[in-house]
Amino acid sequence: MSETGPFLSIEGLNVHFGRRRGKRQIIRSAGLGVDAGEIVGLIGESGSGKSTIARAVLGLVRASGGSIRVGGEEVTTFSRSRWRDFWRRGVVQYVFQDPLRSLDADLVIADSIAEPLRIRGGLARAEIDEAVRRFAATVRLDESLLSRHPGELSGGQRQRAAIARALTTRPRLIILDEPVSALDAASRVQVLASLTGLRTAGVGLLYISHDLGSVAGITDRTVVLYQGSVVEHGPTAELVNEPRHPYTRLLVGSAPTLSGTSLDRLERHRLRAELGLDAPSDRPG
Ligand SMILES: Nc1ncnc2c1ncn2[C@@H]1O[C@H](COP(=O)(O)OP(=O)(O)OP(=O)(O)O)[C@@H](O)[C@H]1O
Ligand SMILES: [Mg+2]
Repeated sequence: MSETGPFLSIEGLNVHFGRRRGKRQIIRSAGLGVDAGEIVGLIGESGSGKSTIARAVLGLVRASGGSIRVGGEEVTTFSRSRWRDFWRRGVVQYVFQDPLRSLDADLVIADSIAEPLRIRGGLARAEIDEAVRRFAATVRLDESLLSRHPGELSGGQRQRAAIARALTTRPRLIILDEPVSALDAASRVQVLASLTGLRTAGVGLLYISHDLGSVAGITDRTVVLYQGSVVEHGPTAELVNEPRHPYTRLLVGSAPTLSGTSLDRLERHRLRAELGLDAPSDRPG
């Protein structure tokens, strides 16, 4: 296995869903890379295909074309048993959009975080407890929450617990699929703050969000996905200061924290028209 280029490297990825006449192309020749210790934002509106790309990296949906390399290994040609081995090793962790999918509703948070360590075996009870406390601290999850069940946590706390659980396998890449509605601004800030420590640990992070404004502060690079295609990518600061694609301009312009001013109504209308997004009732008067 030779590891050259970024740890995660996706090139020309295509994903189709459905069969025959119902077949739809969801991902169109998409490419992106995430290096060790790098935080990359994957930004796009609902339905643009963000989770589909993440699921393709994990082998949960099949690529119909293109290449996905993880640590130099081409994963798109993996057999079932290679995938099972890949999942068991936990080199890449996916924190689901709905953290309740990563956490067992019947287990207290400490036991959910400990589960991957228990499955792997070889650690004494006291060592596991100590690891749980350490990973909870990494994501700034208060120790008092460890004895609660997932249903007794806020959305942001749940997601941090899911990240702590993901960290236990010492992954080299974490894909974090941000819940669109479950996180309020304050919880999002806490989740983001909990992640910056990963950078120094050399863990790569692909942070999926629909909101460029909320993640621009921590991402090194940003990839903008629009209708299944990567329309723009680059260092986040460059992309924010000089957005080129109309969709990116709309994203930046819709986040006053980034652009300083909001897009005026006419400019917004012009960009939406350029993207073919306009409803007739949306014409400026
Ligand atoms: N298993 C599937 N079978 C058929 N279509 C699917 C499947 N999964 C996703 N899709 C479709 O693919 C498109 C992209 O979905 P995806 O979940 O990747 O979007 P997303 O960018 O993650 O959106 P959101 O921000 O709402 O989570 C959508 O039109 C969705 O309906
Ligand atoms: Mg999604």
